[in-house]
Amino acid sequence: TKIDMAKFAKFCKDTGFIFQSSEIYGGINGFWDYGPLGVELKKNIKDAWWQDMVRNPPPGPDGQEIRMVGLDCSIIMNPQVWVASGHAGGFADPMVSCKAEGCKKLFRADQQWVVAYLDPRNEDTKLARLEERTEGMKSAVKEGLASKSAAERDATMDAALATSRLIAESCRPDFTKTVTASSAEEAKELATLTKQEQKMIPNLVFGYAVPLVEYMKTPKVDAPRCPACGEKQLTEPRAFNLMFESHAGPIASEENKVYLRPETAQGIFANYRNVLNSTRLKLPFGIAQVGKAFRNEINPRNFTFRSREFEQMEIEFFCHPSESMKWYEYWRDLRKKWYSTLGIKSDNLVPREQGKEELAHYSIGTTDIEYMFPFSDEPQELEGVAHRGAFDLTAHAKHSGKADDLAYFDEELWNNDSQTMATRSFKEWLKSNPTVDERSKYKYVPHVIEPSAGADRFTLAVLTEAYSEDQVPDAKGKLEERVVMRFHPRLAPVKCAVFPLVNKDGMPEKALKLYRELKAHFNVVFDDKGAVGRRYRRQDEIGTPFCVTIDGDTMTNDTVTIRDRDSMQQRRIPISEVKLEVMKSLMG
Ligand code: GAP
Repeated sequence: TKIDMAKFAKFCKDTGFIFQSSEIYGGINGFWDYGPLGVELKKNIKDAWWQDMVRNPPPGPDGQEIRMVGLDCSIIMNPQVWVASGHAGGFADPMVSCKAEGCKKLFRADQQWVVAYLDPRNEDTKLARLEERTEGMKSAVKEGLASKSAAERDATMDAALATSRLIAESCRPDFTKTVTASSAEEAKELATLTKQEQKMIPNLVFGYAVPLVEYMKTPKVDAPRCPACGEKQLTEPRAFNLMFESHAGPIASEENKVYLRPETAQGIFANYRNVLNSTRLKLPFGIAQVGKAFRNEINPRNFTFRSREFEQMEIEFFCHPSESMKWYEYWRDLRKKWYSTLGIKSDNLVPREQGKEELAHYSIGTTDIEYMFPFSDEPQELEGVAHRGAFDLTAHAKHSGKADDLAYFDEELWNNDSQTMATRSFKEWLKSNPTVDERSKYKYVPHVIEPSAGADRFTLAVLTEAYSEDQVPDAKGKLEERVVMRFHPRLAPVKCAVFPLVNKDGMPEKALKLYRELKAHFNVVFDDKGAVGRRYRRQDEIGTPFCVTIDGDTMTNDTVTIRDRDSMQQRRIPISEVKLEVMKSLMG
């Protein structure tokens, strides 16, 4: 179900989950702060991930123990890391900007469409020219594509492309509009003329929609209009790197330039040899890291969904190339299941295998785990599980010159393999010039499976999934609205609230004693203000699974009432069992 995101953001602010960063100065686009409840929620999410993926992952595909260790790397690294990873060159979006004074806005070139309008009074001459050109192109393409030579067929396609540009030129529009859209259809829908435009140019009819980048390649067309101010002032597309820059040291020089990491993954690859040496781990094993990443996103949007500063929870799982598909499937299935165990409904989770054309050039397969966020009709990415092959370690081996450090010598296989028993040492055997195939059996660059999740995106998913409104009877039996956050107890920011029924007869002291005992184990609140019904509402609104009330009976028989957030049922249990009751709910 859709929820009004503006209303939801206000709810998050009022309750203390999420605030706009530096709000007292008007905020800053793409940056968010977690309030007293938000910080507990996000910490519970990161702790659950660490516990379930690093400390206690389920057995592997063949029932084996999974070996996982963690890292906490620096945010600023040697800039060569980003050259090797491809981020320094390729982590960029094509951008256009408006040159008009007073606008100067920046747009992603690949999301802009030029929608062209023609004046029907000019149509005849245009159509005649168009037909002439199209006929010529059709016969040339037919002949060319019939050729047996691939080079000739490619040349035909190039010529066809050039001709279609000429056609666009012949059909030079009388008026254009630039709109931000993801397809030609959407562009057409969005490009309706304003009343003022219709008045100024009454005879225009809709012509065609072309991607801005293609339109700009067409010779002799006018510059496209700025989607914001409408002036014909857009620059050529140029690459805009998403990495935030800074300088290490007092001088802001080129050689002191550094970047804030755009992902945590590269710290793991750069430390691969250190981890191997210090832990003596054997393949397969995984290295995990949770930490901040920064991307200068052009268009931060949908609350925290696309931010400029965010946290990732990433695993790089290293394995033998021949076993990599098995591990890819293991992580893909495990990661989807994990979200369900934390209360995300399976219906809202969509694993989507990327098509061949979407895959990064090095990736053998990637599954995006997508979630039906209530702000969108389409599911949106929560996490990507990627089979990255040997791409990263090979790239770092090449750029650092430390090829030996980034390969893996499979000592177990070497020791067990009867083929090699006769040879005294691996080094001697290597000198005897074995074939590449033989070598790679014992010494190879591991393949990597990377489940990469966003802590903030999952926090947003948990918040929207938990949010519900219903009606409950008040003290006089009249129905009243209640907001209840149905968090899984493991993720709930507060696990239990303790109330004295009234502030007399020893009840506050008894309640405080219980509160002090419990808070040594989990996050508890103590509340003695207002009617008990009101106190329940306050806890429902922040998703506290249990409320415990100390009443008159507690003073005589040491039992309390424990109320369940979702069923609103109350039970009486011995005060000594409260801790166990809450702990049980946290186990899964
Ligand atoms: N190491 C691989 C990597 O970084 P990615 O798909 O670019 O892959 C992984 O990012 C996850 O990080 C995403 O699935 C998403 O959850 C989160 N993420 C990426 N960009 C984000 C942004 N601008 N704001 C919030 N979360 C983001």
